[in-house]
Order: sequence, then structure tokens, then C-alpha cells
Amino acid sequence: MKALVTGATGFVGSHLVRRLIADGWRVVATKRRRSSLEHLPASQIDFVEWDVSSEPSEELEKALAEVDIVFHLAGVIKSLNKDDFYRINFEGTRLLYGMASKHGNIKRFVFFSSQAAAGPSPTVEGIDESAPCKPVCHYGRSKMLAEIFLAAKEACPFTIIRPPVVFGEKDPATGELFRAVAKGWRFRIAGFLKAISLVYVEDLVEGVISAATAEIAKGRTYFFCYDEPVSLDGFFDLIEDAFDGMADGKKRLVRRLTVTAAEVKFFAALAHLFGSVFGFVPSLNLYKLPHFAQRFWTIRCDRAKRELNFKPSFSIAESIRRTLQSYLDFKKRTNSSL
Ligand SMILES: NC(=O)c1ccc[n+]([C@@H]2O[C@H](COP(=O)([O-])OP(=O)(O)OC[C@H]3O[C@@H](n4cnc5c(N)ncnc54)[C@H](OP(=O)(O)O)[C@@H]3O)[C@@H](O)[C@H]2O)c1
Repeated sequence: MKALVTGATGFVGSHLVRRLIADGWRVVATKRRRSSLEHLPASQIDFVEWDVSSEPSEELEKALAEVDIVFHLAGVIKSLNKDDFYRINFEGTRLLYGMASKHGNIKRFVFFSSQAAAGPSPTVEGIDESAPCKPVCHYGRSKMLAEIFLAAKEACPFTIIRPPVVFGEKDPATGELFRAVAKGWRFRIAGFLKAISLVYVEDLVEGVISAATAEIAKGRTYFFCYDEPVSLDGFFDLIEDAFDGMADGKKRLVRRLTVTAAEVKFFAALAHLFGSVFGFVPSLNLYKLPHFAQRFWTIRCDRAKRELNFKPSFSIAESIRRTLQSYLDFKKRTNSSL
């Protein structure tokens, strides 16, 4: 089997590519001129250049004519320009699907949407894929629009993946929580983020490959997650436990900071302003704020269990321990901080 993977240079994409290659797939990956190939086995991949914002090249057209499956992961998760979400996540998907559907060889177009397209859950029990979409931010809305676009198309079979918070080796987002604990800090937001669904990146890529190749998954949308959600506090507990269980055996002194919703809003506004002035995108900004100001980001993945035999390989605690181990190994190899 041969796959085209967009967003291969990102966190989830690099795990997916490594797994596909390990399973014997041939992989063509898109990259941008300045993309880092650091996390990819570059010698085993054919690359084509593609920036969603520019005209697709002949190279990309040629690659699409030769692959069986397209995994479309390229997307923007955080930006201080709200138009980026729609241009890259929605328009980019529309463009790529349009190109892919001209080629009869493509058996499946797998689109990486997000739990954010569905929105938060009203209760801790969580929503399933049939719940009406109620996104609360531009990111979620842009992914929802791309889903609506695909749902009306038949030219090329598609499958939609809606990951919740993904964690694992090399994730810059959840990696910040590990680094905070390493530095002796953790925080909670009073009244919010009481339950969050999670998926370990290795389990996600396994589920995605099953979905890409299963007949039943044509035209379907899937959540993948652990059965048990955790609160932000619970996530920090698990990270702390992982640190405590490590070989150095040192018990860390970790200070607990509680911030109010009003304080989070203030920091988001400040960070947004700083980011706009100094040209970087902080993890907390005004467009990310709606993610933090929710109680339940919970989903259920009974469909993936039933139709794709989805089952996480390890407990959450074990996956967090493995993730921490990967950070510690990297730190040792590169003589850097966590
Ligand atoms: N991580 C999560 O928790 C999570 C949860 C739900 C959904 N998702 C979805 O899963 C997908 C992958 O997420 P991730 O965490 O791996 O994201 P990531 O690490 O930020 O990677 C994003 C990828 O998209 C590429 N990209 C960004 N803008 C592009 C553009 N204008 N043209 C072409 N390529 C572009 C990046 O290329 P460069 O390397 O050149 O920057 C990178 O390869 C995304 O679509 C995301 O929305 C992720």
C-alpha cells in the first residue's frame, strides 16, 4: 500500500509515518520549504513540497495519482490570526480533496478533524459521534466546516478522525505539562477542565490505520480515546506519579497553583498581545481561551471499539510513563533540559 501523508512533519504525522513504514507501507509526505524533518526517517520517505496557501505543484498531482490512501493531517491548531484556521483547515482540505477526487486510484481520503469540531460535552459521560456539532472556537468551526464539505461529497470515499487531546513522545502541547512538573510547578483552573478525554498517540495511529483500510469506515466519523477521562488535576497527578516512579527515585516538590477563570482570561489577553507584538503564538491566547473555559471535554468511542476493534494498548498511567521516559531519553541524548 502507498500513502500520501500531509502534516507528516508534525507531532501526530511523524508517528503515523513511522508506523506506516514499520507496517511495510510506502510513504510520500508533504513538507514545506522550512519544515523540520528531525522526527522522520527521511531516507525512507519520498517528499513533495506543499504549502496549503500556495498553488499545488505538479509534483503533488503526480504523487496523488500514485497513492492508495491520503492521510490529511496538515492543519493549524493555534494561531493569532483567525483567518488562518479557515484558510488552512477548511480551504486546504477542500483543495486537497478536490485534487484527490480526480484520481480514481485513491481508495480513501482520511481527514484529521478534531474533538473541537464536536465541541465540549454537556456532561461528564461524554458525547459520541452522533451528537450535533457545537464548536466553541475558530479552530473547531474550521474543522467542522471541512467535515460538512466532505459529508456532501461522494467522488472519493472519506473517513473523518476526531482526536481528543493527544499525548505522547515529542508533543509540544502536553509536553509543556511535563516540563512544568519537571520545574516544580502544576496548576489548575478553578471550576474548569474537570474531565478531559485523552488518547495516546501510538493508539491513535493504530486506530487511524484500521479506519483507513476498513470498508465499514467509508463515510464514517470516529472518536478514539481512553474510556476514563481525567481532570487537569488528574493528568498532573499521573505525570507526577510517573516522575516519582523513575529511576532517580527523587520525590519532587511540586507547587500547586490555582488560577481563576478571570485570571486565565487576563493571561490569555496578555499573552495574545505579547505574541502579536513579538511574532510568536503562545499556547494560551484569546482564540484558545474557549478550550480552557469548559468543564467537560469528554467523548465516547464505542463506535471505534465496535467497528474497528479499537483498544488502547496500555493504561493511561503506563502511556504517560512511556512518554516521560521518551523525554528523559531525549534529554540524556542531547544533554538538554526536559
Ligand atoms: N495534537 C492533538 O492533540 C490534536 C487533537 C485533535 C486534532 N488534531 C489534528 O491532527 C492534525 C495533526 O496535529 P499535530 O498535533 O500533529 O499538529 P502539529 O504538530 O502542529 O503539525 C501540523 C502539521 O501541519 C503542517 N502545516 C501547518 N500549516 C501548514 C500549511 N500552511 N501548509 C502545509 N502544511 C502545514 C505542519 O508543517 P510544518 O512542520 O512545516 O509546520 C505540520 O506538519 C491536525 O490537523 C490537528 O488539527 C491534533
